[in-house]
Amino acid sequence: MKGIVFTEFLEMVEEKFGYETVDAILEKSQDVTDGVYTSVGTYKHAELVALIVSLSEETKVSVPDLLHAYGVYLFAIFVRSYPMFFEHVKSMFDFLENIDRHIHKEVVKLYPDAELPRFESYRENEKHLVMIYYSQRKMVDFGMGLITAASDHFKTKIDLTKTVLGDLSGNEVRIDIKIIE
Ligand code: HEM
Repeated sequence: MKGIVFTEFLEMVEEKFGYETVDAILEKSQDVTDGVYTSVGTYKHAELVALIVSLSEETKVSVPDLLHAYGVYLFAIFVRSYPMFFEHVKSMFDFLENIDRHIHKEVVKLYPDAELPRFESYRENEKHLVMIYYSQRKMVDFGMGLITAASDHFKTKIDLTKTVLGDLSGNEVRIDIKIIE
C-alpha cells in the first residue's frame, strides 16, 4: 500500500487518540512492521492490518469502526491533495461511478504498485446507486467511510448499507446508496 495511507493513518491516530497511542500501537505491531513510514514509500497491506488491530485493542473501538473513521478522515485529504477529481463533478453518483472508471485508473498510472479495489456500479433508479466492491484486502468499511464523507462533500443525504456476498470473507460486498432527500 502507498505510504500516504500509513502516514495519514498515524496522523489520524495522533489527532483522535494522542501521541501515546501512536507510540503504543507502533510498539505492539513491531513484529510485523519496522515502524518507519514515509509518504513516498510502499508497504505491505499486512502492516496496516497489524496497526489497525493494535489500535482496536488499545482503544476498544472495533476494527470496522476504525476503518470507517479512517475513510472519513482520508476523504478530506483526498479533496485537498487531488482537487482535479472533484472539480466539475455534477453529482455524488457521478463522482462515485467515476472512482472505478477514472479516479483509481489515474491512481494506478501515477503509482503502478498501488493496490486498489474494483467496483461495478449501476443505478437501480435515479436515487439508488449500487456498487459491488471486490478486493482481497477486505476494506469495504474504509470505502463506506469515504462514501459517507463524499455525501457530506456533495451535500447529499444518503442511506448507506452493505451486504456481504460470495464466500462471506468480505472480498465481495454489495453497497446500496439511496438518496433520502
Ligand atoms: C468515495 C470515494 C472512494 C472510494 C469508495 C474508494 C475506495 C477505496 C478503497 C476501499 C481502498 C482500499 C484498498 C482496497 O480495498 O483494495 C482505496 C485505496 C486507495 N484509493 Fe480510493 N476510493 C475513493 C476515492 C479515492 C480518491 C478520490 C482518490 C484520490 C486519488 C483515491 C485514491 C486511493 C489510493 C491512493 C488508495 C491506496 C492504494 C494503495 O495503498 O496501494 N481513492 N480506495
